[in-house]
Amino acid sequence: MRQPLVAGNWKMNGSKASAETLLAGIKEGMGGISKTEVLVCPPFPYLGLAVSALAGSRVAVGAQNACTEAGGAFTGEVSAAMVKDVGCIYVILGHSERRQYYGETDEIIAKKYAQALAAGLTPILCVGETLAERERGETQSVVARHLDGVMETAGIEAIARGVIAYEPVWAIGTGMTATPEQAQEVHAFLRQRVAAKSAEVAAGVRILYGGSMKPDNALELMSQADIDGGLIGGASLKASDFLAICRA
Ligand code: 13P
Repeated sequence: MRQPLVAGNWKMNGSKASAETLLAGIKEGMGGISKTEVLVCPPFPYLGLAVSALAGSRVAVGAQNACTEAGGAFTGEVSAAMVKDVGCIYVILGHSERRQYYGETDEIIAKKYAQALAAGLTPILCVGETLAERERGETQSVVARHLDGVMETAGIEAIARGVIAYEPVWAIGTGMTATPEQAQEVHAFLRQRVAAKSAEVAAGVRILYGGSMKPDNALELMSQADIDGGLIGGASLKASDFLAICRA
């Protein structure tokens, strides 16, 4: 039985003050949420603050990125070990915004993934196609390439120790959610691809959906057989919306 996970990706939003308000709102509103694992991923400067604010709650904290290297002369970078050291449990890797705006390739993401595991973090590997790729009928080949980027280099055991998030790029921040059927089709495909290496890992690995998930579409999406939770952007910036998705 896979425990559902709902993760909030705050992206580069907010301030110290707004982060404090949001964290307090989430912490207070956790009553009645017992089956779902809840995670928030604030920007780096607010990670320590989030860990402190959420101490004693059931809400975990994660980062949105980490470096390919373990440490040393890499100005401006943050290592997975540092993220772990301040109390984080998860790290989002390979988000489409990182692939698109910062040139992250599957090779770079695989290195980051290995560093995250070595540091004791649980990586959340994002995969997903653009609208043009979907229209060309390349959805499966694109998500397979993203998944294989880690699975072929780090091995199936690395997949077992992480989480996968399917985020169709065309659904991110657009209000254009994938239909439950569209999402389920890709989730099932990803799980089958993992199953080709190990049925056991495929049965256990959680695959989240991300892309305009909101309180009013979360239940339908998460009712699908292979959707094990959500990676929430915009709706994770409002405590009531985020908590409503966790309840779904
Ligand atoms: P939105 O929920 O704003 O579409 O963002 C999804 C996302 O990119 C989460 O990582």
